Amino acid sequence: SSYECIITAVHGDGPRKTALITLNRPKALNALSDPLFDELGEALLAFDADDSIGCIVLTGSERAFAAGADIPTLAQHDFQSAVRTDMITRNWEHILRVKKPVIAAVAGFALGGGCELAMMCDFIIAADTAKFGQPEVKLGVTPGAGGTQRLPRAVGKAKAMDLLLTARMMDATEAERSGLVSRVVPADKLLEETLAAAEAINGFSAPALQLIKELVNRSFESGLKEGVTSERRVFHAVFGTDDQREGMDAFLNKRPPVFKHG
Ligand code: HXC
Repeated sequence: SSYECIITAVHGDGPRKTALITLNRPKALNALSDPLFDELGEALLAFDADDSIGCIVLTGSERAFAAGADIPTLAQHDFQSAVRTDMITRNWEHILRVKKPVIAAVAGFALGGGCELAMMCDFIIAADTAKFGQPEVKLGVTPGAGGTQRLPRAVGKAKAMDLLLTARMMDATEAERSGLVSRVVPADKLLEETLAAAEAINGFSAPALQLIKELVNRSFESGLKEGVTSERRVFHAVFGTDDQREGMDAFLNKRPPVFKHG
């Protein structure tokens, strides 16, 4: 690939494959810069548009998923330049536009913007070496990409306040216990386990996956009654897909389904 801050690869041998995006600024513990986000946004949207890709895995290195926004860059800004350039956050929303499942595979540090980026993924699989935190307050600033919004929704107010106000890090066990990550695996199995989860997803119906993702995300933005009503109508609507017939016919005939993603 022609990228400088990320590495892209494709894994799997089924009809739908897994896109693997690796953050790659090792000397800065994958600190998140505008050039990195330009590349990440471009790669995410390209994979999302590619019919041969079923889902996307985002990972970092053994030492760090990402140690936050790039501090030397932040240090150059004042209020006016931050607003004018939409500092650091200008491309962050790209990841939220991706319709396919995005899994974060986190080893080592996921701090500040790194933790926020992981939280923008659909779920997080953590290595037992993972450490999560929002240490912005140590730099005299606030989080700027979801730390005060997604973290409390994930772990509750008490733990979010604790992490945000004390700047402490939490390890993978605490992160799993509090609901920030879906599973913890040994560090040397992180990629294998995450790619296996991705492979399972790749075999399922793309429209069903997309609608599930949309409904879960909507549950954080709407009331229960509205969410449940939308869910029921979407459930009815998927009976218009070939994949519904295939999935149920396969079950009734005791054979594996072959989804055509329509
Ligand atoms: C730029 C960074 C960096 C960062 C680490 N490095 N974090 N460079 N931006 N966020 C660099 C270090 O300067 C160092 O470069 C190299 O990576 C290795 O880091 P060390 O500090 O030597 O490693 P270690 O002692 O193991 O400590 C690791 C660490 C520490 C605990 C992760 O680096 C750290 O506290 N980093 C900052 C974490 C942080 O505050 N993140 C929040 C940023 S604010 P050299 O060249 O010296 O070897 C933020 C706001 C987001 O994220 C807002 C969203 C818009």
